[in-house]
Amino acid sequence: MDEKKKIAVIPGDGIGPDIVAQAKKVLDKVCEKFGAVFEYKYVPAGGSAIDRYGIPLPEDTLEICVNSDAVLLGAVGGEKWDSLPGDLRPERALLGLRKGLGAYANLRPVTVFKQLAEASPLKKEVIGDGFDFLFVRELTGGIYFGKRGRDAQGAYDTEYYSVEEIERVLRVGFNAAQKRSRKVCVVDKANVLESSRLWREVAKNVSKEYPDIELSYMYVDNCAMQIVKNPRQFDVIITTNMFGDILSDEASMVSGSIGMLASASIGSGKTGLYEPIHGSAPDIAGKNIANPLATILSAAMMLRYSLNMEKEAANVELAVSKVLESGYRTLDISDKNTEKHKIIGTSDMGDMVADSL
Ligand code: IPM
Ligand code: MG
Repeated sequence: MDEKKKIAVIPGDGIGPDIVAQAKKVLDKVCEKFGAVFEYKYVPAGGSAIDRYGIPLPEDTLEICVNSDAVLLGAVGGEKWDSLPGDLRPERALLGLRKGLGAYANLRPVTVFKQLAEASPLKKEVIGDGFDFLFVRELTGGIYFGKRGRDAQGAYDTEYYSVEEIERVLRVGFNAAQKRSRKVCVVDKANVLESSRLWREVAKNVSKEYPDIELSYMYVDNCAMQIVKNPRQFDVIITTNMFGDILSDEASMVSGSIGMLASASIGSGKTGLYEPIHGSAPDIAGKNIANPLATILSAAMMLRYSLNMEKEAANVELAVSKVLESGYRTLDISDKNTEKHKIIGTSDMGDMVADSL
């Protein structure tokens, strides 16, 4: 492969730089092994951009990202910037990037790595031989981007979805289901919200294009319960921006560690955005204890979805599995009660995965 791929890298805040450095090691190894050529541009966003430029998402950052093949992001945010007004908070960088890249579909796979099944708070009977489902979260609409404001008596945020916004994210989910177990569950609050009733109507229509896919609906409160009661029932869950935000955190925990889960945000533009689903964990920043695996697995998703390198992506995932198989763990996924686990730091974990490729 000789075509040079452009990757914008946003280390961000907190543990962001620690974990992104490990993903970079693994990507370097991919280049070495498979002959790929990546050109990296490191750009600021989030709290570190606020400190340097006074704004969370400098124009240059967005422009470089839009003109890249993919964006790899560590994490943004931290207590330090929590008192800033909404539009100046580090999280605005994320929202601005998602919107600016047209990344309207957020894919968050939730799997139990069999080596980590014991780290799950769920009982063995519930986990069975493991679960594997995929959140497709709408990412550039809904209450996150709707009209908001204050008046003399209070404040409001608006959940608004156009038919087009619903259709396009549904299609991403249905297409994904075709490569999986062919089941789509649309999660909403159609017993209360008008926008949810529209989601159901649109889903019913879109499903006509996918006669091979089984479509079901579930209320979000019930879904929150079903994720802990019987996670194996799910294949692809398609939901709104806010419901997807909440449910995917819940699901990450039942999988054993939030430190393991990757995400891809894709959409209308050519550039996808790849980031771990966990946050910036400022309390452990720079201490060489953060788990870099979610970022490494996000880099694998980047190889798969934006760089057309399926074989390489699968190899990175296999390398992660092998390292876990040999008992190596970062602190967050280690079990004190077993001697089988060898606890290693962030940087060693990056080296181990790269070597195992
Ligand atoms: C996520 C995060 C973000 C979100 C925050 C940081 C704005 O929680 O990616 O899930 O709510 O989308
Ligand atoms: Mg979240």
